[in-house]
Amino acid sequence: MTGHPRSPADRIIVPLDVASEADAYRLVERLPQISFWKIGLELFVSTGPSLLEQLQSAGKKIFLDLKFHDIPNTMAGACRSASRYGVELMTLHATAGPVALQAAVAAAQEGSPSPSEVPQLIAVTLLTSIDERSLAFDLKVPLELSDYTLQMALLARQNGLTGSVCSPHEAPLLRRWCGKEWLLVCPGVRPTWSQKGDQQRVMTPSQAVKAGADYLVIGRPITQATNPSEAFQTICDEIAAVVESTL
Ligand code: C5P
Repeated sequence: MTGHPRSPADRIIVPLDVASEADAYRLVERLPQISFWKIGLELFVSTGPSLLEQLQSAGKKIFLDLKFHDIPNTMAGACRSASRYGVELMTLHATAGPVALQAAVAAAQEGSPSPSEVPQLIAVTLLTSIDERSLAFDLKVPLELSDYTLQMALLARQNGLTGSVCSPHEAPLLRRWCGKEWLLVCPGVRPTWSQKGDQQRVMTPSQAVKAGADYLVIGRPITQATNPSEAFQTICDEIAAVVESTL
């Protein structure tokens, strides 16, 4: 739906990591300047699509992060249904395979209210909860982690998806091999003044943009800040100079 984001504020996606509709509205009302919200499984399973409609009627963009992974027919059905909501970005696991990914792309086009509202389908390559050791010993994948994530991004690209979720540390490699049109959506971003929390391999917002990230998914440094509006503005200011130089 949207191509590469333009302004610094458009590049920041804030996750609505809360469990109820009431908490979600409270956060959205507290941060009226945020235009792009991520809705994940916990909140969507709890509230259903009514929250999406409410946010859209308030002019917000939505990243629907439901990480679909199923057989082709079911993937197509899920993408057709989800595309009716007119969201900007949606996630699917690349490991669903080529037939399922192609079916998802076709169904997203069919389900969208108009050709200009087809969501960008973004691949999940490997969950960050899987580390190098688990990839080899538990999942029995005989590849380096970075090579595996690259192969999954290439598979997604060959089958019609338009971007992938990645750590900012993987962004340069993916940018190099997937090309400049490939959308890189990066969590694991921490300003120098914020807590790392449970994120391990972080980059600052300006480092992440320099590394090639299109969208930064930044939650707690904004939502848990003493002054969330100020935190958001500080991040926008930090990346503004870098964004200017990449336009
Ligand atoms: O609060 P924080 O900035 O860590 O939030 C990051 C968001 O991005 C959370 O919603 C988290 O689930 C999501 N995410 C992530 N790492 C991934 C994929 C998604 O942190 N690999």
